[in-house]
Amino acid sequence: MDRFEIEDDDFVLNGEPFRILSGAIHYFRVHPDQWADRIHKARLMGLNTIETYVSWNFHAETPDSWTQSGRADLDRFLRLIQAEGMYAIVRPGPYICAEWDNGGLPAWLFANPTVGIRRDEPQFIAAVTTYLNRVLGIVAPLQIGNGGPVILVQVENEYGAYGDDASYLRKLTDITRSAGITVPLTTVDQPQDDMLANGSLPELLKTGSFGSRAVERLETLRKNQPTGPLMCSEFWDGWFDHWGAHHHTTSAGESAAELDALLSAGASVNIYMFHGGTNFGFTNGANDKGVYQPIVTSYDYDAPLDEAGQPTAKYWAFREVLARHSSLPAELPAARVPAPDFSVPLDRAVSLFSVADRLGSWSWSDGLPSMDELGQYSGFALYSHEIDLDRVAVLEIGEVRDRAYVFVNDSPIGVLARDHHDRSISVPAGRGTLSLLVEDQGRVDYGDRIGEPKGLIGPTVLDGVRLQRWGVLPLDLRSLAPVDAALDAGADHPRSLSGPVFARGHFSLAAVQDLFLDTSSWGKGVVWINGFCLGRYWSRGPQRTLYVPAPVLNRDRNEMVVLELESAACAEARFVTEANLGHTEF
Ligand code: GLA
Repeated sequence: MDRFEIEDDDFVLNGEPFRILSGAIHYFRVHPDQWADRIHKARLMGLNTIETYVSWNFHAETPDSWTQSGRADLDRFLRLIQAEGMYAIVRPGPYICAEWDNGGLPAWLFANPTVGIRRDEPQFIAAVTTYLNRVLGIVAPLQIGNGGPVILVQVENEYGAYGDDASYLRKLTDITRSAGITVPLTTVDQPQDDMLANGSLPELLKTGSFGSRAVERLETLRKNQPTGPLMCSEFWDGWFDHWGAHHHTTSAGESAAELDALLSAGASVNIYMFHGGTNFGFTNGANDKGVYQPIVTSYDYDAPLDEAGQPTAKYWAFREVLARHSSLPAELPAARVPAPDFSVPLDRAVSLFSVADRLGSWSWSDGLPSMDELGQYSGFALYSHEIDLDRVAVLEIGEVRDRAYVFVNDSPIGVLARDHHDRSISVPAGRGTLSLLVEDQGRVDYGDRIGEPKGLIGPTVLDGVRLQRWGVLPLDLRSLAPVDAALDAGADHPRSLSGPVFARGHFSLAAVQDLFLDTSSWGKGVVWINGFCLGRYWSRGPQRTLYVPAPVLNRDRNEMVVLELESAACAEARFVTEANLGHTEF
């Protein structure tokens, strides 16, 4: 039976010192049929281990549900790692940050404000126990001592940047051990004395997260932990992007030099990210340090393997460094094949207003429920109120989370954007229905605003008078069948798209391969291909193309549905040969 242990200076595998050369791939950000390819390419770069977070909210969309199939099949992911002859590190949180919606914490946890998030509070601990028992039930049989690939499990995530509740960390450790985890347990923190002290326990191995000044950071880690292997559990080799900002890239040469310094100092490493993947659907997180900044759909991260799984200059630079510190397989990844360039007419369109009733049901209340209160934890909701105004009036809203398109009798009158701190809008005189189509653009994943409810946050006031009666329709977009049926009878060959509108087109392919959908001539919206939600697009950029993974495509017939919230001058979809993630800083 294999043994993996921590000794005074090293990780030790079956009695021999072992250096972890790991790369992060989040299984939930990659199509499952591409997992094996990405893992294989990690080994070809010179890595011996794959690390993944586990995102609680991806597995447990509601308090009573649990999914572990498809893109949530952690068991399959870990077995593929083993099949490649590699080891695995699992980081189940419960909080993961990771630029993921709500940092991985399920939004439903926050419905009860007395739940003490990320601390030793009985209700939180009870929910975490259920969650960890499920996840660790998958992981435990796959530990190295049981013949599997798992060599390390992490407790919490950068907890020292958030709290100092040692008894919470102790409970997590106990739950983890009781679930049958016997491999060494780690914590990760940014290498600052206070964070390293608050984020760990004496029985857990402290590791660091950083992307530069490796030698100095390792010294800080060593000062805070006199013995044990040194490890950078998140060697940041790139960064994530926000809508409205630039696409982040880092120099391959500088990043490789830093990796070299880290390895020359004898440390183990987990490259964050080796392959970032995509925030498919509505899974992206956001930041808010005074201004709300949602994360884009791509999680390319400027990683060695790009979003489409192709080696970049950083891959080759890292491979060269790794070759200096270990022996490498001779095989090289196959060369990139350019994607086809073609256009698809969107030949049917139907207004969202005419199909909304088929995507959910209205609930009317004397108050303003948040989307969360209606059990809607992502996506869109339509808010509605009847008005009768004899002059222009001003509508005021406590806070819009996160973006509201405002209509009177289905005609647009403006937008309220959280990132602009918009709180009011003029409403024209007249009588009819005031509607607000509200988008949850992604929950904050770091800092104080984690867990806040989405939708319209009251009070709402019109012309000085508080509005009471609102209708709310959470839009269920998990199945597009109602949209499809409405599109069959929708407008034929529309010239342009005036949102909010669903539009549809079909296409076939000479060969099934990855595609890049150019969204630069559209406004803002969401795209599905063959029912698979690619994610959000936005003219604000920087991201200009959406990645379409080959496994969601067919050769003969593909159906594409676009929800355009704003406008597009031409009802056409264009596919291009390569990704365009937008302008960079320099
Ligand atoms: C921290 C977190 C990660 C991720 C990175 C930034 O290190 O632990 O989850 O958010 O920052 O990409």
